[in-house]
Amino acid sequence: MSLYPPTPCSTSLSASSFPVAMPKTLVPLAWDAPKLLLLDQTCLPEQTRWLSYTQSEAVAEAITSMVVRGAPAIGLAAAFAMIFAFNEAAAIHSMALPCLQLLKEKADALKASRPTAVNLMWAVDKQLALAETLQNEPVEAISNALEANALRLLAQDQADNWQMGLYGAALLQANSRLLTHCNAGALATGGYGTALAVVRAAYAQGKCLKVYADETRPRLQGARLTAYELVAEGIPTTLICDNMAASLMQKGEVDAIFVGADRIAANGDTANKIGTYSLAVVAKAHQVPFYVVAPLSTFDVSLPTGESIPIEERHDSEVTEIEGVRLAPKGVSVYNPAFDVTPAALITGMITPVGVLQPDYNSSIAQAFKASAAAV
Ligand code: MRU
Repeated sequence: MSLYPPTPCSTSLSASSFPVAMPKTLVPLAWDAPKLLLLDQTCLPEQTRWLSYTQSEAVAEAITSMVVRGAPAIGLAAAFAMIFAFNEAAAIHSMALPCLQLLKEKADALKASRPTAVNLMWAVDKQLALAETLQNEPVEAISNALEANALRLLAQDQADNWQMGLYGAALLQANSRLLTHCNAGALATGGYGTALAVVRAAYAQGKCLKVYADETRPRLQGARLTAYELVAEGIPTTLICDNMAASLMQKGEVDAIFVGADRIAANGDTANKIGTYSLAVVAKAHQVPFYVVAPLSTFDVSLPTGESIPIEERHDSEVTEIEGVRLAPKGVSVYNPAFDVTPAALITGMITPVGVLQPDYNSSIAQAFKASAAAV
């Protein structure tokens, strides 16, 4: 099976125009059996470099080093890596039980590659559960089923993004000025994005006059990836440093903020890229609507609040250096959490594939899960 988007992106987004393929340079991954291809996001926008993977451990390393990043994209890469993990285990153990035991170990290694985005654990567990239910089948059948399921998860993510884009755009007036943080775009998902799916749909409908993209220190996903995606599609984009967003809101220049999420607790507390929390506080102070856009795979209803969401801390060099150029003196200590948690009380609404959730999130999130279970 081969999956490369074949046609360029359309500008007119409506429910009936789905699916529209993204340009090949804006998708994070492609399945070219038996290989997983990842667009190396560490060298965008300067270089468009595709890397080829056939081993689960190498995909785990690509997730840790952020060759692939963004919660849904990480989950999808791991879903494909589970095909490799199963084939590796089956090559060592022909018996079902030891093979599944080894698969679990490889699944744990994949899940440990980044701790905050719950889409990673969700996707790996989906594949593991499938392999377990098929344990009495021939190994080839299990491998094929894992492949078909990974492709299904990819297609579902694209459909969910499309739907969220339409729900989000419906909240906006004509010519809105939007602000986003980090990259919650096509590159962070199976296609279209979460927050950027809203931007894409709104722009196609004449509801987005311009987008302010926070540069997003330390890894600069806003400057390198969001600006790259939006400029490629001709969507008017103004890049700002993170510390400029408050002043823009004070001047009345921002009509709404849309961000993605890495993990949402049962009460709506939301972990997303570091800097999201301060944006939400300032948005509240200036009555700017603040929306989180996320598929249900980003919700972790096993956690009652955001307090127990594990927050990744990354290497000091991400703060002391930019693109390999050292800025800070040697010997300085560094604090580098990759994510923060925005309390539910600061979130105006949550745009999901099953609708726009509103406070009280404890009950609207529970209802969304009930609705999606009933639809299966
Ligand atoms: O560290 P990253 O680049 O993986 O962080 C990405 C984000 O925080 C995104 O906002 C989030 O994953 C949502 S992506 C649709």
